[in-house]
Amino acid sequence: MKKILYLFSNWKMYLDYEESVGWAKRLSEEMKNLPAGVIPVVFPISLALARVGEVLKDSSIGIGAQNICWAQKGAFTGEISAPMVHSVGATYALIGHSERRHVFHETDQEVRQKIDSALTAGLIPVVCVGETLTEREGGKTDEVILAQLRAAFTNLTVPPSKTIVVAYEPVWAINTGKACEPREAERVHAVIKEFVTTPNVSLSEVSVVYGGSVTPENIEAFLAQESINGVLVGGSSVKPEAWFDLVSRLRA
Ligand code: PGA
Repeated sequence: MKKILYLFSNWKMYLDYEESVGWAKRLSEEMKNLPAGVIPVVFPISLALARVGEVLKDSSIGIGAQNICWAQKGAFTGEISAPMVHSVGATYALIGHSERRHVFHETDQEVRQKIDSALTAGLIPVVCVGETLTEREGGKTDEVILAQLRAAFTNLTVPPSKTIVVAYEPVWAINTGKACEPREAERVHAVIKEFVTTPNVSLSEVSVVYGGSVTPENIEAFLAQESINGVLVGGSSVKPEAWFDLVSRLRA
C-alpha cells in the first residue's frame, strides 16, 4: 500500500438530496476499516454538501464540492464560492472537471482563477486535466495535458503547507466503460509529475490520481502503477455493489 492513496468519489448529478444523505449514512457505517493511508473524499451535489458533511462528521471520509465559483462573493447568480463550501465543512474542490470544461465551456483561465480561489479559501484543489479522443488519436495527448497544466499552475504561489492534487481524466474514458490502459495512464502521470517540478511551477509535492471508468475490475491495476496516487471514481462510486467491491480491493 502506498503512503497516501486518494479515493475520490464524484457523485456528479446522480443522487438527489435524500439519496445523497442515505448513501453517506451507509458509507459512514460501512467504510470504517480502510487500510492506513487511504484518504476517502466524496463530492456530492452542492445542495447536499452541508448535510452530507454532518453525516460524515465523525467518520474518516472527507467532503468536497464538484465545482466552485472563481469569485468569493457577489452578484453571481447560481454560483457558490470556495469560502461558502468551506464554511459547511468541505475541504476539497474539483476544478476543471471535463464535464465542466466540455459541457459548460469552462476555460483554462477560469480553471486557474478557481484554483486561486480554492487555495485562498483553504480548500484543496483537485485539478482535472485530460485529452479528448480526437486529440489522443492526433498524437496530441501530452501537448494538451501540458497546455492545461501550464495554464493552471505557471507562477502559482502555493505555500509549502498547502496540498494540490491533479486528476488525469482522459475525456474519452469518462463514463464510457473504456478506461485508459494502466501503463499508459502511468506514462501520462509521470509527464504530469515531471511538469510540476519545472521552473516557474514550484509545486514539488503534487499527488496525481487517475479517473475515467475506474471499476472493481481495474482498480488494482491502476494502483499498482508507481506514479498513480489514487483514483477519482464516478459511476462506480454510487452503485453499492460495485463500490464496496472496489473498496475491498484496497486491502489486496
Ligand atoms: P466515471 O467518471 O468513473 O463514471 O468514468 C469519472 C469522473 O468523471 O470523475
